[in-house]
Amino acid sequence: MVAFRPAGEAWRYKKKIMKKAIVVGASSGIGRELAKILLRNQYVVGVMARRVQLLNELRNDAEDNIFVQEIDVMNDELAMEVFAKFIQEMGGIDLIVISAGAGDVNDSLNWCLEKDTIKTNVTGFAALVNVAMHHFTAKGSGHLVGISSVAALRGGSESPAYNASKAFESNYIEGLRQKVRKTRLPITITDIKPGFVNTAMAKGDGIFWSAPADKAAMQIYNAIKRKKAHAYITHRWRLIAWILKLMPASIYERL
Ligand SMILES: NC(=O)c1ccc[n+]([C@@H]2O[C@H](COP(=O)([O-])OP(=O)(O)OC[C@H]3O[C@@H](n4cnc5c(N)ncnc54)[C@H](OP(=O)(O)O)[C@@H]3O)[C@@H](O)[C@H]2O)c1
Repeated sequence: MVAFRPAGEAWRYKKKIMKKAIVVGASSGIGRELAKILLRNQYVVGVMARRVQLLNELRNDAEDNIFVQEIDVMNDELAMEVFAKFIQEMGGIDLIVISAGAGDVNDSLNWCLEKDTIKTNVTGFAALVNVAMHHFTAKGSGHLVGISSVAALRGGSESPAYNASKAFESNYIEGLRQKVRKTRLPITITDIKPGFVNTAMAKGDGIFWSAPADKAAMQIYNAIKRKKAHAYITHRWRLIAWILKLMPASIYERL
């Protein structure tokens, strides 16, 4: 496992006055752009993913405000251990964003592709959320952000596991939001539902209204600042969500 920790007095001083965030899935796409925005906005940021060389490149812009840790969320038990240790090493965390995700167009229903999607977006996601919630409950506060998808709203023929896994993410953190409310602790849970964003993840036919990753990340940052429970990214995807929710199955199945 590869890791980078800032050293020295400067870090110890900053630790006291800056907010701390972890972005899982910060090596590319939405997570990377969001990590950059957080670094520009007085956060100390822990960045995690498998491609550590890409995480290390973020250090060029961040002086000593960045922690780097390799993680593979598909190996759920090891990932939980690594994630919990990383949180402790950073001295506690205020904001955790789980942007790590997998999904492929899978017309042939190749089981390996389906399984990797489920291991990443279902088991891996729930494992990290579990660690995050235990941390925030013990600390008495915190903000958890899951990046699900507009795809969570209906099944999808191009990638059935992807849509179903995103529905799991969205539903899972809704349950946690309900649970947290009963504790009255100031823990915020945000479900971000992007439409199409220009990243390696945006595959398949019929891509439209595709937003640049930095624009999507800025809208996510604004939703985080406002402690929103839900946000569609970009905002006009709310319209598509509304249509998807209302469309009868008899029409949806023909699309
Ligand atoms: N782009 C879109 O149109 C779109 C739409 C709706 C929702 N989303 C969601 O947005 C999130 C970010 O995706 P993106 O669009 O930014 O795509 P991306 O550029 O492919 O980013 C995916 C991120 O997830 C990380 N990741 C994947 N598998 C991992 C694993 N096993 N362990 C640890 N990290 C892993 C990747 O890092 P490594 O490969 O380095 O590990 C990468 O940093 C995903 O959850 C995706 O489902 C995207």
